[in-house]
Amino acid sequence: MLRRMEMADVDELMDIFSDPVAMRYYPGTKSRQEAEEWVLRVLRSYREHGFGLWVAVLEGSGEFAGQCGLTVQVVEGKDEVEIGYLFLRKFWGRGLATEAARAVRDHGFNTLGYERLVSLIDPGNLASRRVAEKVGLRLEKEVWKWGKEICVYAISKAR
Ligand SMILES: CC(C)(COP(=O)(O)OP(=O)(O)OC[C@H]1O[C@@H](n2cnc3c(N)ncnc32)[C@H](O)[C@@H]1OP(=O)(O)O)[C@@H](O)C(=O)NCCC(=O)NCCS
Repeated sequence: MLRRMEMADVDELMDIFSDPVAMRYYPGTKSRQEAEEWVLRVLRSYREHGFGLWVAVLEGSGEFAGQCGLTVQVVEGKDEVEIGYLFLRKFWGRGLATEAARAVRDHGFNTLGYERLVSLIDPGNLASRRVAEKVGLRLEKEVWKWGKEICVYAISKAR
């Protein structure tokens, strides 16, 4: 299940952000202050766009498993809406990212009315590329972003 993120989620978010393996394809691990800034950006996205990253919790226990949602990203000068996902390492390989990303894709198309969604993925991040493919996104192009080559996976509503 996905729910809104709150500042009180910082402790659990730090279990992802302080893990160098989980953050391997990001610029680095994050300090607690950077994690708080991350939550503030998510809350601003809720206000500005009506969406953002959400917290994924396990059905039943409600345990924090990760985050998945939508973020506006500029790609080659144009705004795109990205499906993003980051999960706690102990929950990897159970299909949780795929399940959450499918729900986010459907929300983006059916509730928010977007015609196109993307995922921006480091070419070496094979697990993330696999999730994008399972969710129906296809590799469209490679662009230069964040100081490196990035794969742009995309899906259109009329697929
Ligand atoms: C990417 C991430 C969200 C995937 O989460 P997950 O819950 O393990 O994903 P799922 O279980 O739904 O699916 C993972 C798929 O990748 C595959 N996979 C995992 N590691 C792989 C690898 N090294 N090479 C190829 N495929 C791999 C799995 O086998 C699975 O595919 P399958 O169902 O066909 O077997 C998780 O690894 C993560 O949080 N990584 C750190 C943050 C991150 O990099 N996020 C993406 C940024 S673009």
